[in-house]
Amino acid sequence: MMALRAHQRGGPEQLIYEEAPKPVPGPDEVLIAVRAAAITLAELTWPETWTAEGVDRTPVIPSHEFAGVVAEGGANVQEFVAGDSVFGLVPFDRDGAAAEFLTVPAACVAKKGPLVPDVTAAAAVLPALTAWEALIDQADLRPGQRILIRGGAGAVGSFLTQFAKAMGAEVTATVRSASAVGRTKSLGADHVITTGHSLDIPRVSGFDVVVDAVGADVPEWMYAAPRPGGHLIVLQEPPNQELAAKYGVTATFFIVRTRRDRLQQLAARIANDEVEVAAGLMFPLASGRAAYEAKPSGKTVLTVE
Ligand SMILES: NC(=O)c1ccc[n+]([C@@H]2O[C@H](COP(=O)([O-])OP(=O)(O)OC[C@H]3O[C@@H](n4cnc5c(N)ncnc54)[C@H](OP(=O)(O)O)[C@@H]3O)[C@@H](O)[C@H]2O)c1
Repeated sequence: MMALRAHQRGGPEQLIYEEAPKPVPGPDEVLIAVRAAAITLAELTWPETWTAEGVDRTPVIPSHEFAGVVAEGGANVQEFVAGDSVFGLVPFDRDGAAAEFLTVPAACVAKKGPLVPDVTAAAAVLPALTAWEALIDQADLRPGQRILIRGGAGAVGSFLTQFAKAMGAEVTATVRSASAVGRTKSLGADHVITTGHSLDIPRVSGFDVVVDAVGADVPEWMYAAPRPGGHLIVLQEPPNQELAAKYGVTATFFIVRTRRDRLQQLAARIANDEVEVAAGLMFPLASGRAAYEAKPSGKTVLTVE
């Protein structure tokens, strides 16, 4: 098969479109013919992209968010048959979806039905699962609570904004550019703060929950923004516990896990037009390196013929 691979650790310059062995599904795995693969620009910096249990696993195939068609199920797989239209998230320490085929544990896959376009499904998987895990499992967000989302118009941020509003919270979002204000309000933000390129503080405080969905260093004002006893969730790195103690807040980090029930719920919401998915640029798989170099806003998706 053809795939985008990196033989050495590094950035997009390491990515080569080349022939690679077609994977064979294990007993609990599914072989998927990929139709769309979304990328997260930061994934080339994650340790799991390059190692599994500390062991180098190059050459690696990036991109973990896929939509496609089941080609074959392993011996123990009952829930899928060849031809099912599916989507899901590949664990980060396995070869990913920037390829004509991938294998993935069946537990990481859900049927999506024909009404959900492949590109939309692939673009939604990681940000939606991450947003739900942050709001439900980490924050236990309740109706009426006040939440601040830094980067509320980004890939994860736009799902945080939509889901937090749907859960009945009062949502404040920060965005970098004034041009993002209208869209962020239409996603459900009650208040939008424009920060420009400064890391400096909008002077805000008293939030029950604060989520940093930007991906740069977490500025100190984020630790001061929750109320005493409130919760700061950082998506990009483990937070600074000294600063958390200084401001009397709980600060946590997590790595998103795949849940089939949430994937099914996501597919239903997309099919019913109940959620907006910020798919950005599309590139054919063969131009995958350019996709990683492009750094546009919104989710970049590789398409596979
Ligand atoms: N822990 C996990 O399991 C997990 C899962 C998924 C993602 N993540 C992490 O979450 C982070 C966000 O990912 P993403 O895919 O959502 O990235 P993204 O689409 O690039 O979103 C980042 C957003 O932050 C905005 N932004 C940048 N600087 C800002 C500032 N100073 N103030 C306000 N907004 C600012 C960006 O605006 P512009 O468009 O103007 O640049 C963009 O909208 C990344 O670090 C990623 O690695 C973690």
